Amino acid sequence: MTLRSPVITVMTGAARKAARGLVRDFGEVENLQVSRKGPADFVSAADLRAEQVLRRELTRARPRFGLLMEESGETAGVDSSHRFIVDPLDGTLNFLHGIPHFAISIALEENKELVAGVIYDPIRDETFAAEKGQGAYLNRYRLRVSSRARLADAVVGTGIPRRALEANPGYLAAVARAMGACAALRRSGSAALDLAYVAAGRYEGFWEPGLAPWDIAAGALLVREAGGFITTIDGGDGFLASGDVLAANDKLHQPLMALLAGRGAGDRRTA
Ligand code: 2AM
Ligand code: CA
Repeated sequence: MTLRSPVITVMTGAARKAARGLVRDFGEVENLQVSRKGPADFVSAADLRAEQVLRRELTRARPRFGLLMEESGETAGVDSSHRFIVDPLDGTLNFLHGIPHFAISIALEENKELVAGVIYDPIRDETFAAEKGQGAYLNRYRLRVSSRARLADAVVGTGIPRRALEANPGYLAAVARAMGACAALRRSGSAALDLAYVAAGRYEGFWEPGLAPWDIAAGALLVREAGGFITTIDGGDGFLASGDVLAANDKLHQPLMALLAGRGAGDRRTA
């Protein structure tokens, strides 16, 4: 079984179409590493091209919906209740360095609520998709967050915030605590895929401060529809606006929150 609603089909189709260009451009990046100008300009162009394809495809299918896109910002829709939130290339730095770990992320909001999400990893040909109330899927398979209940068994993703450390004073201490309490930490460079991996039960949890709505929106719905929880790092609701995110399976969300906050209840509660 899988999701078959018309809007998921539109979102998946747009992602796959834009991904074809990205994969072609990714193949060029390695050659460009040695050129004098370097690949950075080429990668921004690839990013923009992908965004243009996504805009064209989404607008063609849903001309009245609004758009919030990483490169071009907000485009108001005639229908102000629906908005796509789009990251044409999440994991840009991986892409630039020839590391095959990046994705396209598309979410749909209806009256400010996330109702559909697609994250497509073109290198592995993995389509993560979720629809509110309909579950989360990886290709044809239903997703469920991991059932591991002990921090000591948890593989936890994080993202190192690119703002100065002063803007994230607690981050390194939180990393140190997580290093001590968890089985392993991972830092993949694509927040969208990190969230998809929580939904898929590959990671028990993920946290990162300072993200943008397009990094998070589709992944948030995937996590929820797979039975996990997503909040701000201190457990609040406004993660899309604040960009501070903690996602985890149902058993480890509370313990991880306590651990990251330095309340230390983390491992004892689940031991
Ligand atoms: P990107 O690859 O689309 O830039 C890595 O830690 C995560 O942070 C990635 O998902 C990356 O998305 C995101 N990111 C990088 N720069 C960012 C910025 N200035 N604001 C918000 N998110 C950013
Ligand atoms: Ca991004």
